[in-house]
Amino acid sequence: MRWLIILLSLVFLMACSTPQLRPQAQAVASAHPAASQAGLDILNQGGNAFDAAVAVSAALAVVEPFGSGLGGGGFWLLHRASDGKQVMIDGREVAPNAAQRDMYLDPVTGQANKVASVNGALAAGIPGLPAALVHLSEQYGELSLADSLRPAIRLAKNGFLVNEHYRRLARFRLPVLASSEPARSIFLREGLVPELGTRISQQDLAASLESLARDGFSGFYRGELADKLVSGVQQAGGIWDKQDLANYKVKEREPVVIDYNGMRIISAALPSSGGLVLSIALNIIEQYDLAAMDEATRVHLVVEAMRRAYQARAQYMGDADFVSVPTEKLSQKSYAWTLADNLNLKAAMPSQQLTGLNASEGHDTTHFSVLDKAGNRVAATLSINYPFGSGFVPPGTGVLLNDEMDDFSIKPGTPNVYGLVGGLANAIQPNKRMLSSMSPTFIETEGSVGLLGTPGGSRIISMLLLAILEAEKGAQASSWVALPRYHHQYLPDVIQHEPGALSDELKAGLIAKGHLLESVGRTYGNMHAILWDKENGRVTAASDPRGKGMALVE
Ligand code: GLY
Repeated sequence: MRWLIILLSLVFLMACSTPQLRPQAQAVASAHPAASQAGLDILNQGGNAFDAAVAVSAALAVVEPFGSGLGGGGFWLLHRASDGKQVMIDGREVAPNAAQRDMYLDPVTGQANKVASVNGALAAGIPGLPAALVHLSEQYGELSLADSLRPAIRLAKNGFLVNEHYRRLARFRLPVLASSEPARSIFLREGLVPELGTRISQQDLAASLESLARDGFSGFYRGELADKLVSGVQQAGGIWDKQDLANYKVKEREPVVIDYNGMRIISAALPSSGGLVLSIALNIIEQYDLAAMDEATRVHLVVEAMRRAYQARAQYMGDADFVSVPTEKLSQKSYAWTLADNLNLKAAMPSQQLTGLNASEGHDTTHFSVLDKAGNRVAATLSINYPFGSGFVPPGTGVLLNDEMDDFSIKPGTPNVYGLVGGLANAIQPNKRMLSSMSPTFIETEGSVGLLGTPGGSRIISMLLLAILEAEKGAQASSWVALPRYHHQYLPDVIQHEPGALSDELKAGLIAKGHLLESVGRTYGNMHAILWDKENGRVTAASDPRGKGMALVE
């Protein structure tokens, strides 16, 4: 008996000290409770994390029409447990074949027409999200595409209720939504922002999702739906052609892998700038002992790392299938060391004294994270760019189109609507993908795995940087998503921060070092994260307290 007790105790101790190869729970964290529930339902029906990712992406397309959708694109970062494969599914939009570098410039004055790259049919790139869902389901899923799309179809038919966030963004985009008849009738009520609690049902979108569920790629990119999309765009002054849709291709990209202070960060590859910008910033920061610094010096260092990494983004980054980007050089630690040569811990470096240009993109988008019990994982960031994208819906489709063309540098050196300028590597070319900041990310340590990401335009990358530095301290997912945020993107040369993110003492310390500070007026970002503690198998998840999302663990 005594031996039996000793044996059982030993088995128990071994179980406690052996890293758990599988999570003890599954988790979905997204920007909308109905989308998180759709993902969990698919997991409970026997789907894996990839099927759940299809369900969540499609559900978000319905219930968060201002953030992402069938008319947009995104990046899905995958880890497959069976063989450890890590890959980024690139469903980014591409420029139509008839696009030209100067298509948004006035032919007489050469001035950029910033309205045409943001509002209406001419602003829309060729969508990648439907093709990416087909690819995810066919290459990685266990269930059929039709099974995984079912929750979204139901949500589109039954409708969802307007909340304050919807109202704020619809107010922001009211003129453009009102000018497209289908968008007006779906998203507004008598041309006005709908009242709180108004039910938005989308029958045309349900039919488009059904077409995708039934016929896969051809159900969206060829045939009747494609005809409606193309003729709607052309009649509204856009330049899409049927071949643009038929030729759309999803790409599988090798993610960017960063070794940082014993952690392994896996993040988005070009055409997202996220992984490379994170790599440069972390490689600069790694040379210093953050823990030994006072708060003002620590924030100053992180800001100086952001400044240099965003400057490199502007100068070098674009779609590497079209332009030559020195990715190897940019990810080398020695490159970051040279950037840090002129980094003074006592004084800010004016951005004008760094060479190069900058680029940025819009402020809406969405993110979700999924982990299944086998250890498969997906972090995905999806977008139609600005809130409600281009505001244009081709008649009879229910598909709200993106305005992702504005993520190109429409005129090198000319500030876009966010007051920022872009570089030649990101100039418009037919069939090229526009540079993005969307950065779905995994954080791997010896004993844990984190999945995270957020919307937020060019601030996406700095939010992730701050979250990674928080994870380094051993903090939980709930701290990563709640962290007060600050940001520097090289130009404008100012530290942007959420109201209240910096204490008065910290502000004084930063001003003394020569920084300009700007409160951006409201909080930003909407991060959704999952943390799997491999020591004990425990899974926790968190949705950003700034948003209305929901993290479900079961
Ligand atoms: N449109 C947002 C991004 O791609 O970064």
